[in-house]
Amino acid sequence: MSSIPAVPAFTAATAPGALPVLGHGLRLLRGPVGFLSSLHEHGDLVAVRLGPTTAQVPCHPALLAQVLEDDRLFDKGGVFYDRARDVAGNGLVTCPHRDHRRQRRIVQSAFRRPQLAHYADAVRAEVDAAAAGWRPGLVLDAFPVFYGIALRTLARTLYSTAIDAELATGVERAFDTVLNGLFRQMFLPAPVRRLPLPANLRYRRALAYLHAATRQLVAAHRSGADRSGAAGESGGTDLLSALLAAADQEAGGAGLSDAEVHDQVITLLAAGTETVAATLTWTLWRLSLHPAAAEQVRAELDAVLPHGRAPRPEDLPRLAAVDRVVSETLRLHPPGWLFTRITTAPTELAGRPLPTGSTLVFSPAAVSRHPAAHRSPTVFDPDRWRPERVTPAARQGFLPFGTGARKCVGDLFARTECALVLATLLSRWRLAPEPGADLRPVPLATVLRPRRLRLRLVER
Ligand code: HEM
Repeated sequence: MSSIPAVPAFTAATAPGALPVLGHGLRLLRGPVGFLSSLHEHGDLVAVRLGPTTAQVPCHPALLAQVLEDDRLFDKGGVFYDRARDVAGNGLVTCPHRDHRRQRRIVQSAFRRPQLAHYADAVRAEVDAAAAGWRPGLVLDAFPVFYGIALRTLARTLYSTAIDAELATGVERAFDTVLNGLFRQMFLPAPVRRLPLPANLRYRRALAYLHAATRQLVAAHRSGADRSGAAGESGGTDLLSALLAAADQEAGGAGLSDAEVHDQVITLLAAGTETVAATLTWTLWRLSLHPAAAEQVRAELDAVLPHGRAPRPEDLPRLAAVDRVVSETLRLHPPGWLFTRITTAPTELAGRPLPTGSTLVFSPAAVSRHPAAHRSPTVFDPDRWRPERVTPAARQGFLPFGTGARKCVGDLFARTECALVLATLLSRWRLAPEPGADLRPVPLATVLRPRRLRLRLVER
């Protein structure tokens, strides 16, 4: 295994096999992760053509780190973020560098470690509510079940608002349409996007629903806070209260506009639900295929949570096997698999001059399978995350949450939630996949997840 070069001497190349007009678009659409993962064979920075756009793909983990750490020069923008702004406006995920630090300071307050500890009760309550009717032999459709848990947990912790089953299903369906339509929209020229085609109409209807649901959440929070005179059941000021307080300060110029509050609420719903549900789904599938890893997890849970005791946040440091399994799943199946950046000034990367406005495309899924970062990169091996085995190169090649100033603000929230859900479930149940699973990623999905995985509950 080669390590990170001390003085990087990166190579630039152009991907072969571009078709007239479409370029590499068809290959990207047909087998996105396979295509992006293969590019490092040509060079460290590889130019691909997506329709009329030429995009630069940093394939080497160290080169990608260089890009992500300079978020002023390599700013949010490009085909992915242009369309993502249709959904999330100028929220924290999509905003450009000039708005980022101010927004981040406000949102970050809800994600500090002590705050996360308060959220454990909400996670447990949601898992318990979902599992109340579970009986041995019941077959769960994994993704929708975890989506419901993730959405309700997020609403309860960050917004102190309960979401009923009807709203949860509506939001899931609408995000499904919007997030799956987003890539299609990315490749369509603007005049075609505006046509009243059935797919465009579905996309617009789903977007309108999400904006209405967001307004409903904010209104429910405002009236709840008005009634109780205080914010949040999460043991402190919840995020939505902090956002609204920041909006109230806006007159002084340092806070958030009402539109930004709306954009943050929808941003976190988009960024924090499907990603968590996909991670839980992939993790349980991986565990079902790797009995030794599953056994390690069960032994750990029996030791840390005797007699099926519910997990508490202070148990998490002792759930190291659970943590390793989640890391390895995130390495091989990072839910966010494609992002873009745009250069804000002329620069040079891997010796290639890039004018202002150049598009970069990167994929955590491809980088985390790079042989410079991980030995046997396609093998599922949670033990590679044992502290004594983790190398700096492996750390650099692990980017499910991105890196630099734009690194996921919810990384610890997501990991805490995944660990608590898995510990709660696996201390009580074995989950065995039913025949007929379809693990191919949903085509054109923004979040990498299996098309269908059903799990049968078997009592331990
Ligand atoms: C396993 C779950 C998750 C994964 C894999 C994930 C992945 C990512 C990635 C890769 C980025 C960086 C995108 C880029 O650089 O272009 C990001 C940013 C972000 N994520 Fe997550 N995310 C997860 C869960 C969450 C959760 C639970 C929340 C909030 C509740 C969240 C909120 C955000 C926000 C607000 C940003 C933008 C941060 C900024 O630019 O300052 N994510 N996420």
